[in-house]
Amino acid sequence: MKLYPNAQLLSMFEHYISAMPTPDEPQLLYAPIKYGLEEGGKRIRPTLLMLAYNLYAEDVERALMPAMAVEIFHNFTLLHDDIMDNAEVRRGRPSVYAKWGENAAILSGDAMLILAYTYLQRTSSERLPQIFGLFNKMAVEVCEGQQFDMDFETQPKVAVVDYMRMIELKTAVLLAGSTTIGALLAGASEQDCQRLYNFGIELGLAFQLQDDLLDSYGDERLGKRIGGDILEGKKTILMIEAFSRANEEQREVLRTTHLRKDISNEEKISTIKALYDELGVPERVEQQIKHRFAKALAILDTLEADTDRTVELRHYAENLVGRKS
Ligand code: IPE
Ligand code: IPE
Ligand code: MG
Ligand code: MG
Ligand code: MG
Repeated sequence: MKLYPNAQLLSMFEHYISAMPTPDEPQLLYAPIKYGLEEGGKRIRPTLLMLAYNLYAEDVERALMPAMAVEIFHNFTLLHDDIMDNAEVRRGRPSVYAKWGENAAILSGDAMLILAYTYLQRTSSERLPQIFGLFNKMAVEVCEGQQFDMDFETQPKVAVVDYMRMIELKTAVLLAGSTTIGALLAGASEQDCQRLYNFGIELGLAFQLQDDLLDSYGDERLGKRIGGDILEGKKTILMIEAFSRANEEQREVLRTTHLRKDISNEEKISTIKALYDELGVPERVEQQIKHRFAKALAILDTLEADTDRTVELRHYAENLVGRKS
């Protein structure tokens, strides 16, 4: 049974998505969709889906439709997320709402969600009802996570367990849904589907912790405004860790800096980051990221799939550790 290198799966997917037909009109509906789906994203979710599929089956073209569904769904969430987060830059260029306005980003996002379902529906599988059920559960959980993320902005203190549940919902369930849909489609056993779900959750948690870290400590390769989470008053893992280690005076700084009118955005970011550094926050978060990645990789050892077939998925996950973009 042929084992595809992850780079080859990615290039198959890139080829497929670039050939996606999109109408020209109405221009304000379709131009943002094309813009969002163009090259530039890492394509993590479709790659995971295809890698999981290839653990059990070799006709990987069959996984392209649901791979499109998860990637389009992901990009739909980004269109709305950037409005919610006031994020004007994504992938090194203006975000959709910054370029075309909020109305266009809302409606194009809605159409992308429908398009995602259209690709899911075209997937041929006896297990399609199960795949749909999983997709629906995941999709509503992402909305729940996004709402918790917004709620936490105005909550003075957020517990680590609540934060972990929030990122599981907003981010990890989509990675887990992707690996599980790949496995379901390829005919994997119920047990392996569950294991690959758990793998996706752990990987997704690591991925979002890292996203939080990069938001403050990354560089231009990230393609987002560095410090955006600080300015929005997000309860990231960095903020939560800092809060739990800070004294009362430092807590006041953590709570209020982003609201200040008398200092510039750059000063707000450097004030908070100086405090993070002083409290040893980046180091602690890096440890947690490593721990989650290790948990994810350990699950791969428990699969019924042949160990030599899991190498690609393992390498792919390992390469996400220490990502800069
Ligand atoms: C961004 O996801 C949203 C998060 C869940 C952190 P990615 O970092 O996978 O975004 P792209 O598609 O590669 O730009
Ligand atoms: C994104 O979380 C989760 C979803 C889009 C569902 P973030 O808000 O941290 O993602 P980025 O940093 O904007 O990519
Ligand atoms: Mg965001
Ligand atoms: Mg967000
Ligand atoms: Mg982020």
